[in-house]
Amino acid sequence: MDIRLLHPSDIPHVQHANITNLPENYFMKYYLYHALCWPQLSYVAVDISRPKKTPYDYPRIVGYVLAKMEEDPPDGVQHGHITSLSVMRTHRRLGIAEKLMRQAQRAMVETYGAQYVSLHVRMSNTAALRLYRDTLKFKQEKVEAKYYADGEDAYSMKLDLGFIREQIIDEEGDDAADEGDPVGELGKEGGEKGLEKKEKGAAEKKVKVKVGRGLGVGELVERNESQKE
Ligand SMILES: CC(C)(COP(=O)(O)OP(=O)(O)OC[C@H]1O[C@@H](n2cnc3c(N)ncnc32)[C@H](O)[C@@H]1OP(=O)(O)O)[C@@H](O)C(=O)NCCC(=O)NCCS
Repeated sequence: MDIRLLHPSDIPHVQHANITNLPENYFMKYYLYHALCWPQLSYVAVDISRPKKTPYDYPRIVGYVLAKMEEDPPDGVQHGHITSLSVMRTHRRLGIAEKLMRQAQRAMVETYGAQYVSLHVRMSNTAALRLYRDTLKFKQEKVEAKYYADGEDAYSMKLDLGFIREQIIDEEGDDAADEGDPVGELGKEGGEKGLEKKEKGAAEKKVKVKVGRGLGVGELVERNESQKE
């Protein structure tokens, strides 16, 4: 399974998955709007176990998340929104939806500095509710009466993305540690102190090593062949 960014060429297949799995469908241009305005946020799950036989074979998209940033947030807080999520029946309960959601959430923070992510879900949609509430830890904000075209109410849900910001900061810290000692002016300042530290460390850390005959050095000394034994 390959989880990757949605490309505009995937849109007909994503639309097909959406029509198959959900009653809320959108015009092609709405998908394109997502892909063009927020190209970092929407992902697809592609089943790569079925190899391409010809260059014209299309990718087998078995799941997608369509995500965006809220354009005019009423609360003035920069945040993302999940427009649609679905996984084909044949590929459910494999963790695909969870993975797609986590990818989109991270991209919202990394790319747009989103503070939180919001979504709507049908009150009767047990599977999605379990995923959002229990697995991803979304909080239920309010009930929006008759939100859906058929009159069903929606839960409006929200997840604070602060934990992803912290994860990213931690990861950046780890990466910085791998980059070695500072160089240039910064290196000079820390350099002398660093050198002292290293010397001290070396002095403290004494390691015994074998030298001389034990290693066969004697055999390497040139013999004086003129002297008879
Ligand atoms: C909801 C949906 C996207 C979940 O996709 P999925 O890839 O099967 O979900 P995951 O495998 O990532 O499941 C993660 C967790 O969500 C919960 N969950 C998912 N499907 C569930 C189900 N049918 N019943 C109960 N809990 C479920 C579980 O806690 C699961 O963890 P577990 O498998 O370790 O128990 C999928 O069922 C679907 O496409 N449904 C139709 C479209 C839809 O409702 N979309 C959401 C619109 S808001």
